[in-house]
Amino acid sequence: MSHSAKSSELHRVNGPRRAQVLAVANQKGGVGKTATALHLAAGLARMGQAVTLIDLDPQGHIELCLQGALLGKQAQLSRALLSGDTALEALVEKTRLPNLQVVLADPELAALEPFLAGRIAKEFLLRRALEGLRQTQTLLVLDCPPSLGVLTANALAAADLVIVPCELNLLGLDGLADMVEAIEQTRDFLNRDLTLAGVLRTRVDARQMAVNAAMEKVLLRRYPQRVLPMAVPFCAEMSKAQMAGWPLFTTAPSSPAARAYEQLCLALLQSLGLESTAQVACA
Ligand SMILES: Nc1ncnc2c1ncn2[C@@H]1O[C@H](COP(=O)(O)OP(=O)(O)OP(=O)(O)O)[C@@H](O)[C@H]1O
Ligand SMILES: [Mg+2]
Repeated sequence: MSHSAKSSELHRVNGPRRAQVLAVANQKGGVGKTATALHLAAGLARMGQAVTLIDLDPQGHIELCLQGALLGKQAQLSRALLSGDTALEALVEKTRLPNLQVVLADPELAALEPFLAGRIAKEFLLRRALEGLRQTQTLLVLDCPPSLGVLTANALAAADLVIVPCELNLLGLDGLADMVEAIEQTRDFLNRDLTLAGVLRTRVDARQMAVNAAMEKVLLRRYPQRVLPMAVPFCAEMSKAQMAGWPLFTTAPSSPAARAYEQLCLALLQSLGLESTAQVACA
């Protein structure tokens, strides 16, 4: 894998007084959104930040991937968003990982779209529901479903920063334009504060050197200053960590993917003007 991609400077936000909201989004499926959201949340919590990870995907993969660490499993996010009178604080589950708590998805989230079809301001339900958590937490991380539907729109309308995981192949790059356009439209119409923190290269297969180099060239030409400097290598430890139900930081802390996510967390902390309180073994 080449790390030669020109880095984008992560957006600098001066001294946040409220929790920053980080969305991980890409309408393409299987590109590493959940892995990225989970390791961002777990990594930032490990660095001493108060983090809530919120699963907006009806597939409920956060619950699966964190089953070892979870202390409870209530999931009523769809009802909370629909009713508008349940603050998400009431749905928070603690975990065995210090500083990390989660709000789990429920399958009914999938049915939200038709229910909300005629509702004014349907893109702002999450933004309102997050208000309480913004007062008590430092970072809120949103895992989005693989679509540009109402749930992703809610995430983008509520977020300060969005990270777009992307695979280095033709189809991965093909979908990126739609995602970047959706972010720009969100900024124009729904959320002026939204910043693209960057495109994160994920599941990078080091053996595909020629393909990686060609795709990075295209990526950097199309999105100059938008490609994050670190890339997440494909590694076998990821599936094992998911099966165990813990983040890589617990099961394989020196794996290449764990180290890449650690670098991303440190870069984010720096860009947000926050400090790590933990000793991390980042290269
Ligand atoms: N760095 C990595 N190395 C190896 N496997 C990975 C890595 N990142 C993710 N995966 C695997 O790739 C698959 C897809 O990852 P993930 O679930 O994070 O993607 P996603 O974008 O959230 O998918 P969906 O769109 O279905 O929500 C999973 O099986 C996961 O274990
Ligand atoms: Mg996912």
